[in-house]
Amino acid sequence: MTRTISPTRLATLLGRAPERHPAYRSVAEALRLLVDDGRVPAGTRLPSERALAETVGVSRATVTRAYALLTEQGYASSRRGSGTVTDLPDAASRDGRGALMPRIEGGDTGVVDLTCAVMPPPVQMHTAYEQALTRWPTYLQGSGYYPLGVPALREAVAARYTQRGLPTSADEVMITSGAVGAHAIASRAFLRPGDRLLLDSPTYPNGMEALRADGARLVAMPVDETGWDLDAWEAALPRTGARATLLLPDYQNPTGHLMSEGERARLGRALTRHDVLAVVDETLVETRVDGPGVPSPFAAHHRRTITLGGASKSHWSGLRVGWLRAPARLMGPLAAARTTLDLGSPVLEQLALLELMAHDDEITASRAEVARSRRDTLVAALHEHLPQWRTRVPHGGLCLWVTLPEPVSTPFVVAAERHGVILAPGPRFAPEPGLERHLRIPFTLPEPTLRDAAHRMARAWAELDPGAHARHDLATPLIA
Ligand SMILES: Cc1ncc(COP(=O)(O)O)c(C=O)c1O
Repeated sequence: MTRTISPTRLATLLGRAPERHPAYRSVAEALRLLVDDGRVPAGTRLPSERALAETVGVSRATVTRAYALLTEQGYASSRRGSGTVTDLPDAASRDGRGALMPRIEGGDTGVVDLTCAVMPPPVQMHTAYEQALTRWPTYLQGSGYYPLGVPALREAVAARYTQRGLPTSADEVMITSGAVGAHAIASRAFLRPGDRLLLDSPTYPNGMEALRADGARLVAMPVDETGWDLDAWEAALPRTGARATLLLPDYQNPTGHLMSEGERARLGRALTRHDVLAVVDETLVETRVDGPGVPSPFAAHHRRTITLGGASKSHWSGLRVGWLRAPARLMGPLAAARTTLDLGSPVLEQLALLELMAHDDEITASRAEVARSRRDTLVAALHEHLPQWRTRVPHGGLCLWVTLPEPVSTPFVVAAERHGVILAPGPRFAPEPGLERHLRIPFTLPEPTLRDAAHRMARAWAELDPGAHARHDLATPLIA
């Protein structure tokens, strides 16, 4: 299957008709940037020359020459009968495939690790464990196996959904080993090799890798500065025959976008119409910093939804407690899949989370305050030291998604490492090669460290060697 793009959509992405001469070079350059940063992913069939020429308002010869130039530069290939299809010149080396792994194991190494977006644990953590220990004796009398989770925590998670406008009972909740554990369970239960799955580009790599591991064929749906392109989703659902989708509507990692209630309703209707299973990762839902409140959970708009969540962003990653919520009729296959992966999550950690949840109002408010100050510090430092970079200030999530003036994310990350800053390049977040004009920068470290990192990044930017990525096997490991 080859993805297509309509002449109107491509014309919108290309912007105004080129004014520079020769016009074909301007069109080719604009197309190259779109392919490089993933807004037109590699593997997209471009509109016919005539259709694009008419829509953009240039001559057909201009588009013919622009396509030829792209092909010459390795950004497209053309085959008789199948038109011009976008490509990346060194697709294999730019493929950001690979799950995120932690890079630095504690200690003061002098290196700033910006690969991991995690906040410090709440001050209530120690007391929560102490209180959990007081409940412990009751649990020690049992076998210790709770493949669906400790009942009291399942009830608390269900009550939270009900409070957010999605009536839920404890039998619709399973406690998992982190949200990534929930990804693995959902994909093992419902995906078969070759199933087409629509997902955001960029997206959170570890979720996407869990799906890929079970053989799903990933179809990237670009998310840009304005968010989701629902026209494109509505067109892609029937055309691709997608069986499932992975969505992050709540402060999407890495862009920080929040899907509005209206968008949830519209996308939910489209998924219902095509009977597509939605896997919705709402791990970041509690990371609101400011701006509008979070709309109702996506599952309120589409019943065939498996919602994944976890305590890593709301409380602490070290708890390793997550959950999934699904309609009761999907729970059988999910429970069966879970026991092929593990037989439950640690009981003490579940009890500690239960204690922490009793203090959620305080915890969320104080984390938002810390996150706001760190976000604003990083935005200001980038403005000052790297004014050529562009970023949207997100209302939540834990990262900035930066647009670079050139498609040099990977060589820049190589250069930054020499200055003691470890970063994830844009392609790491791409289901398919692309996103070289982007960089994810978490704002979760303390303010002085973020300011120091901005200085170091500015020095690295100043001495950037755009050819460097060809010589490096960049496998920056990341986790969150
Ligand atoms: C969207 C998303 N899902 C899941 C995770 C990881 O969740 P957990 O630590 O609960 O496995 C992260 C961590 O960054 C994330 O951003």
